[in-house]
Amino acid sequence: MKVVIPPIKSQGIKTKLVPWIIDVAPKMSGRWIEPFLGTGVVAFNTRYKKTILNDTNPHIIKFYKLVQEHRITASLMKQYLENEGKLLREAGNNGYDHYLTVRTRFNSGEYSPFDFIFLSRAGFNGMMRFGRKGNWNIPFCKKPDRFAQAYITKIINQLSAISQIISPEPDWQFYNKLFSEIIPLATENDIIYCDPPYFGRHADYYNGWTEKDEKNLFHLLSETKAKFILSTWHHNDWRENEMIKKYWSKFNIITKPHFYHNGGNMENRREMVEALVCNFDITGFAQRNHGVKEKASAKQLELELVTGAYAEQRVAAY
Ligand SMILES: C[S@@+](CC[C@H](N)C(=O)[O-])C[C@H]1O[C@@H](n2cnc3c(N)ncnc32)[C@H](O)[C@@H]1O
Repeated sequence: MKVVIPPIKSQGIKTKLVPWIIDVAPKMSGRWIEPFLGTGVVAFNTRYKKTILNDTNPHIIKFYKLVQEHRITASLMKQYLENEGKLLREAGNNGYDHYLTVRTRFNSGEYSPFDFIFLSRAGFNGMMRFGRKGNWNIPFCKKPDRFAQAYITKIINQLSAISQIISPEPDWQFYNKLFSEIIPLATENDIIYCDPPYFGRHADYYNGWTEKDEKNLFHLLSETKAKFILSTWHHNDWRENEMIKKYWSKFNIITKPHFYHNGGNMENRREMVEALVCNFDITGFAQRNHGVKEKASAKQLELELVTGAYAEQRVAAY
């Protein structure tokens, strides 16, 4: 599968895991619902005609809405990047002065979606991080020639590709809300793909994640009539994700080792085992599992949900 890659970068991007996620996801007649959109790389590869795509990060949602409305086009972006790239190349402190100009302009409240792409592509290590006031706070990648022609072409091609996916689809809806307002919109014909911030890992202004959030997500997903897939981490060389045992272990879980290349923290740069938690049968995927047994068939799972085991767990969780 050739994965369509979006023009926004972030340390949690699921590019390498997209074929796996799409493979596991059952084809539904309804909508693809993604409450934690991030860069959008999973949604853009699903080929659903109707979607609900949401993120608390307003910059991501604004960017994609403007692409959908043809207000951000490949030619406007090309012009912008060529101009800013030249200023970066010629700026003092090996380009750093111009990076700071764009960052200050963005953080002053202008929040231009063009500057958002500039910062995303000229920031250190392709990371996205916002400070306590919602300000972009990633340092410069220290490459004054960052926007060389070949790199601009690559970004423009990425923008054109996602524009061709989003623009003709009036039923691709973008929201800037909390996940708790999105999941209840799902009906039994829909599929929800959740990729929340990982508990105990990266955190920033738009990515705070506490156990209360995990518990809330667990209840909403347990109650949904839709199919769901939740991405989370299973374990790494140091520890297990305690949230699996506490909340998710009654669902079917499929795992796969994955290496995250980005991120400042050493632990976040090492290999970890990723998990997909699903409320449907995963028969056929067992051989790709990492020592994790399928818990139950969809029928058994349903039964379990309405009987004591689930009720007890709910009481214990509150
Ligand atoms: C791990 S990232 C998603 C990465 C995405 N799957 C990708 O491949 O790029 C999690 C996203 O959830 C968003 N987010 C964090 N808390 C949220 C909340 N309470 N409701 C909705 N979105 C939230 C963050 O802004 C972030 O973009």
